[in-house]
Order: sequence, then structure tokens, then C-alpha cells
Amino acid sequence: MRKPVIAGNWKMYKLIAEAVQTVAELKPLVAAVTHCEIVVAPPFTALWAVAQRLEGSNIQLAAQDVCEMNGFGARTGEISALMLRDVGCRYVIIGHSERRQFYGETDELVRRKIGAALEAGLNPIVCVGETLQEREAGMAEVIVKRQVEAALSGLHPEEVARLLIAYEPVWAIGTGHTASPEQAQTMHAYIRQRVAALVGEKVADGLRILYGGSVRPENIRALMTEPDIDGALVGGASLDPRSFSEIVHYF
Ligand code: 13P
Repeated sequence: MRKPVIAGNWKMYKLIAEAVQTVAELKPLVAAVTHCEIVVAPPFTALWAVAQRLEGSNIQLAAQDVCEMNGFGARTGEISALMLRDVGCRYVIIGHSERRQFYGETDELVRRKIGAALEAGLNPIVCVGETLQEREAGMAEVIVKRQVEAALSGLHPEEVARLLIAYEPVWAIGTGHTASPEQAQTMHAYIRQRVAALVGEKVADGLRILYGGSVRPENIRALMTEPDIDGALVGGASLDPRSFSEIVHYF
């Protein structure tokens, strides 16, 4: 059985005080939760303060990006996977469409970041997804296949078993136009099939595939009833502890 994951990607929101306040409010709301893993991804500047607040709780910490070079080095402005481990992260989001779109991240760079994260003992949450233009051109599966294959290239099955994949159709992010449960299910099943072809059924069966893109308390339940949707990567609705908690309590 795959344990669902509900993860909140805070993007470039919240100063330290507000970030700490958010998790302080979130903790009691989800304290009794055992049916899924709960993850929050604050901006880098708030990681340490949030980590202190999460100690002993059932909420895990994630970062939103990582340098492709692990350890230490001359990489001004970058943060390594080792540093993310040091601050208390268990997960790291890699290859988010906003990074691909605004910072030119390529499939190849995404693959290197995954390698660095795995080396440091982090679990990468690898984002894939097509743009509206690509979907309308009938290219959605071609694009996602390319992204998944590039992300997994050269990885051992045991390494792939440590990944999570987030399917985030770019047209659904921050637009209020969520993919229908059927659309998401179709792509999730396709991703699982591709992963099975690359590293075998066993790893593919255990792989958690999250959906992201305008997830709200009102639409999470229908998404979670689909067999290949194993959780959600939530943007806007994760910023408020009450709405995030409602998503965590999706059943
Ligand atoms: P929204 O939930 O705001 O659409 O963002 C989704 C997302 O990009 C999560 O990583």
C-alpha cells in the first residue's frame, strides 16, 4: 500500500514570523493524522525557524529547490542538499514548472539535482507536467514521458524507490482550473506505466505520484479516490493552515 502524501509548496510566500505562525496553527489541526504523510515546503529563509517548530510533530520539512552540486563549493547563491539535510529537510521539490519556465531549468539539470538530493539522503519530489499549448497540440504524454525518462535516467531501481513524482499540468497551476480527476488519473497511470517500463513493476507499484494544480478543499476528495493519485502538491491553498488541514483530511 502506498501511503498518501499531502505536501504544501509555499513558493515565495511568508516571512519568518508568518511561517512559524502558520505551522504553529497547523500542528494541532493535523496532530491526530496517521492516514497520510504531511509535508510543508517553506522558502529557504524560513526553513530553520519552521524546523524548530516542527520538532516532534507529524509534519515533515521540504525545500523548494536544491543545487545540482552536493556538499560545499564555489556556487554563489546556491544551497546544497547537504545543507538542506542539515536544516532538517527530508524532502526537496525538484524541477517545478516555475523553475523550468522562469529559470531555464532543463531536464538534464533536473536529473543532476535529483542525483545530488539522493546522495545527501533527501527524497526528491520531482515535478513534471505539460503546458496548455502542449496539451492542446496533443503532446501532453510525449512531454511528460520525456521529463520522466530524463529524471530517472541512469538511476538504480532502489534510488527511484526513494523518489516521489508530482504531476503538475502547467495550465492548472494557480489558475483555478484543476485537471479533472479522470484527466489526472489517466496521466498518473501513464507515468506509473513508464516507470514500470524503466525500472520494473515492483518499484512502479510503490511509487507515490502526487497531483498538483489548483488543489482545494473542495476538489481533493474526488482526486484522491482515483487509484493512481497518491497525494497532492498544494500551492495557494497550503498557505492557510485551515484550508491545508482540510485538504489533509480529504476523506
Ligand atoms: P496551486 O495549488 O496554487 O495551483 O499551485 C500548485 C503548485 O505549483 C504546487 O507546486
